Amino acid sequence: MPSNHTADLFAEAELRQAPRTEPLGPQACVLRGFALPWVERLLPGLRGVLRAAPFRQMVTPGGFTMSVGLSSCGQLGWTTDRDGYRYTAVDPQSGQPWPAMPEAFRELARAAATQAGFAGFEPDACLINHYVPGARMSLHQDKDERDYGAPIVSVSLGLPAVFQLGGQQRSERPLRVPLQHGDVVVWGGVDRLRYHGVLPLKDGMHPLLGPRRINLTFRQAG
Ligand code: SIN
Ligand code: FE2
Repeated sequence: MPSNHTADLFAEAELRQAPRTEPLGPQACVLRGFALPWVERLLPGLRGVLRAAPFRQMVTPGGFTMSVGLSSCGQLGWTTDRDGYRYTAVDPQSGQPWPAMPEAFRELARAAATQAGFAGFEPDACLINHYVPGARMSLHQDKDERDYGAPIVSVSLGLPAVFQLGGQQRSERPLRVPLQHGDVVVWGGVDRLRYHGVLPLKDGMHPLLGPRRINLTFRQAG
């Protein structure tokens, strides 16, 4: 364990100096380690958001309880219940507006979008996903946003995960993309409606975040 951890720290230090872009499609890519320089500013913001809007396990329209815990910040937050998927300005659990998007979140999202070729990204929603070991996200498209002109910017924190990136049809066999703490995936343009998901999270202990993965997805929803 300690030697693995040391190897991870070396890999992180290298990426901090020189993040790498790996293409996943004509307008989709993973920016390796791109979020690492922001992490110190992201975590206090995240704690504040979660105090006001704690993770909760939502129910799909089909009646399944999601294994991933969800929260949101920004002008709009994403919700699912028996009535369907939608964005709302108010957190249905607290009856209050969703917590404001911390400045560091917005800066990171804009910088990552620009790096991926989508300058001018103005996210109004950040969905926060909480994965514990065993939690997964089945293949789906992000299509509750009003217009698909803006990309999705997805930031991975904590335990590693395997991201699946499929095609425009659910039947298309997805790529498997291993994601580490600090990686950012961006998909937009012709890749905007590609199916995607996350395989069941493996057991582990992240030095900063413990036994969990937290994913921030930024959208222009309204
Ligand atoms: C999502 O599609 O909302 C989450 C993707 C991820 O957790 O990486
Ligand atoms: Fe998604």
